[in-house]
Amino acid sequence: MNHFKNSPSFSVKELLSSSSSLPQVTVRGWIRTKRDSRDFSFLELNDGSCLANLQVVVQSTAKGYDLIKDITTGSAVAVEGDLVESQGRGQAWDLKAKNLVLTGPAGADYPLQKKRQTDEYLREMAHVRARTNKYGAMFRIRSECAWAVHRFFREKGFFYVHTPIITGSDAEGAGEMFRVTTLKEGGGTSFKDDFFGQYAALTVSGQLEAELLAHALGRVYTFGPAFRAENSNTARHAAEFWMIEPEAAFFDLSDDMSLAQNLIQSVVRFALNECAEDLALFDRFIEQGLLDRLNGLLYSDYPRIPYAEAIRILTDSGRKFEFSPFWGADLATEHERFLCEEHFKSPVIVFDYPKTIKPFYMRLNDDGQTVAAMDLLVPKVGELVGGSQREERTEVLLSRMAELGLKTEPYWWYLDSRRWGSTPHAGFGLGFERFLMMLTGVSNIRDVIPFPRTPKNLAF
Ligand code: 4AD
Ligand code: MG
Repeated sequence: MNHFKNSPSFSVKELLSSSSSLPQVTVRGWIRTKRDSRDFSFLELNDGSCLANLQVVVQSTAKGYDLIKDITTGSAVAVEGDLVESQGRGQAWDLKAKNLVLTGPAGADYPLQKKRQTDEYLREMAHVRARTNKYGAMFRIRSECAWAVHRFFREKGFFYVHTPIITGSDAEGAGEMFRVTTLKEGGGTSFKDDFFGQYAALTVSGQLEAELLAHALGRVYTFGPAFRAENSNTARHAAEFWMIEPEAAFFDLSDDMSLAQNLIQSVVRFALNECAEDLALFDRFIEQGLLDRLNGLLYSDYPRIPYAEAIRILTDSGRKFEFSPFWGADLATEHERFLCEEHFKSPVIVFDYPKTIKPFYMRLNDDGQTVAAMDLLVPKVGELVGGSQREERTEVLLSRMAELGLKTEPYWWYLDSRRWGSTPHAGFGLGFERFLMMLTGVSNIRDVIPFPRTPKNLAF
């Protein structure tokens, strides 16, 4: 919509990057601050298109000047005027207002008055926090990175596939699923009476379906929400998170590791180029040296070490861990962070984990004890990627399922793929929120997704 008939509207980002002054333009946005002088006022206007504000100068001769008294922090306005060289320092352009419309005032209780608020407070105010510099920057970066993920896979010949959110099977076998039901309390009690006539839940992963599609399209990926009812109230777990899951036929574990490393480097590079202004904010206020750390991710191959060697490094480190590392135990976050933050000082890929701590679908190695799994660990976060080469041999897959006490019946369609043109294939899952934590230095997963879902937290 346009409030003023004869002037084209621009975003703040477009105006601030203009190479010349522009007469008669419209811009719309929200007021960050107002400074009044005797016969004019300065408005700092932000429209979300970029971090920077546009300074609007409203002289008493401008139409709508009488509204200035009602324009407070948080108000929405539309302004028509001329983009002129700024008299002030720190910005190239000002908008000299000719015509001002207040589309929505903000009451004195508007929570984002000038002083800085804590992350904890802003979590409780998630309905407005995207209007702060930090969260505006975060969600712009999030959008740009999502786009860069699609671009990366498209260039590598991967097709974007949509796998179901509602599912009857547990891909990870960890039993952390949210039930989906239409049964009323006190209504039917058996699955027969329920909507799907069987057990139904929100998916923890699109992998099993992605594997089927990889057997048709060759290379595919999903990028969608996943749900886990892990009752672990940590800074790195959300009940609802977004996962990127590529799956490629004729890939082995080494191809899989390279794909994960290339994806990360490609998206980080894209963010450094396209989100420079927003990332600089995180470098300045969240993690000093962030940009150097990110540049360091770009140009090297990440070390790849077998799980057994990781355990050796940990036990030889002389470090006192809360959980003592030993062969057969899963790596805890403290172990993962030690490996990449202190020992290698780089992301690191750990592979060939004991089969006892990994899901049924991972390919059994010739030693009979380990599987062709790989986790990519990064500083600040720990596990960013979990993946594997998949078990393509029917007999081995069946015996693994039996070992784990999994019923084969719910997986009949998955097992068919092993009977009809089975082939080596591999894939991984990359947690998008964890990627954003690594990228911005933000240490809590609740602060990289607009409306986080965590235990006992379902507001907004
Ligand atoms: O290691 P995970 O559980 O692997 C899978 O789900 C496989 N099906 C992936 C595949 O091979 N296609 O999860 C993959 C990644 C983790 O490394 C982590 O980054 C992220 O998903 N993740 C979570 N992120 C936020 N909150 C949670 N509760 C997460 N659980 C996993
Ligand atoms: Mg994992």
